[in-house]
Amino acid sequence: MSERTLVLLKPDAVRRGLIGEILGRYEAKGLAVAAMWFGTIDGDKADAHYAEHVERDFYPPLRAFVTSGPMAALVLEGDSAIEVVRLLNGATNGVVAAPGTIRGDLSLSNRENLVHGSDSAESAAREIALWFPELG
Ligand code: TYD
Ligand code: MG
Repeated sequence: MSERTLVLLKPDAVRRGLIGEILGRYEAKGLAVAAMWFGTIDGDKADAHYAEHVERDFYPPLRAFVTSGPMAALVLEGDSAIEVVRLLNGATNGVVAAPGTIRGDLSLSNRENLVHGSDSAESAAREIALWFPELG
């Protein structure tokens, strides 16, 4: 079933020059870019995006990180796009993420882990509405 998911290429991906490498993996898998934005977010936007995590101990440094420089936000579309992006991204912590995944191949961090992908249909709908209200 074709569906849409929200992907972030976080500031570490931009700083390290990995936009093409990462986006190429999604495209090579067969997902299509349906929308794209590039820019730096403020703390309020970070809080809205990570609403489920704002009370966690790890959130203040995560907030500082995701507001530290420009990111690319994308809507990717395709068959089972939500699950496929999560599989391509790999486990949250790059140290233990499986080789062959984006985080497993390219990250050694539990925070600077390059990418975000929506974790459910409900999250995808909420996140796409937050980042791309014009798509509503
Ligand atoms: P989470 O939603 O658990 O991971 P994922 O991105 O795989 O869905 O956490 C959101 C982000 O928060 C995660 O990508 C990196 C950061 N984070 C930390 O910095 N420390 C942590 O201990 C965890 C669990 C996450
Ligand atoms: Mg998550």
